[in-house]
Amino acid sequence: MRISIFLIVAAVTASACSPPPQSNSDRPGAGESSATTAAGFDVGPVLAANAYLVDPEFADADVERGETLSLACVVCHTLRPGEDHVLGPNLGQVVGAAAAMKPGFAYSEALAASGLVWTPRALDAWLAAPASFVPGTTMVFAGYSSSDDRRDLITYLLRATEPGR
Ligand code: HEC
Repeated sequence: MRISIFLIVAAVTASACSPPPQSNSDRPGAGESSATTAAGFDVGPVLAANAYLVDPEFADADVERGETLSLACVVCHTLRPGEDHVLGPNLGQVVGAAAAMKPGFAYSEALAASGLVWTPRALDAWLAAPASFVPGTTMVFAGYSSSDDRRDLITYLLRATEPGR
C-alpha cells in the first residue's frame, strides 16, 4: 500500500512538472534558447581565489570530493601554475583571469571571444555544460549536472590552481 501511494504521488508530481506538449519538440534546436550562454553572462564579483574561500558556500564544501571530481579534468589539464598545457590549457591561477589568455595554447575562437572572466559563478555555468555555455568550444566535457558537485570541484580548484598549494 505504501508503495502504491508513493507511485501515485510520484505520477502526479511528474505530470504536474512536465512541460505542455510541444508540436515542434522534434525540431532540431528546439528548446536551446533557454540554455545559459556566455553572451552577456554576469560573472559576479572578480576577486582573488583566496577571497572566495571565506564565502560560506565554499567554506562548507567537501574539498576532498572536489579533488576526486577533478580527476575528470586532469586528463586534459594541469592545475598548478607554470605547468605545461596538455590537451587543454594549464589552469594555474585561472580564477580571476580572463578566458583564453594563456600564452602558447590554441584556444577556440568561441572561447577567445566569450568575454568571460573565470569567477566561481562563470566556472559553475561552464562546468555545468561547456558546449552550451560557449557554443563552439573545443573542450569536450559533457558537464557536471549536480550543483553540489560543481561547488565541491570549484572549491578544490580555488586552492589547487593557486601558487604554493
Ligand atoms: C577532453 C579534454 C578536456 C577535459 C576532460 C576538460 N577540459 Fe577544460 N578545456 C579543454 C580544452 C581543449 C579547453 C580550451 C577550450 C576552447 O578553447 O574552446 C579547455 C578550457 C578550459 C577552461 C578555460 C581556460 C582558459 O584559459 O580560459 C577551464 C576553466 C577548464 N577547461 C576547466 C576544466 C575543468 C574544471 C574540467 C573538469 C571538470 C575540464 N576542464 C575538463 C579540454 C578539456
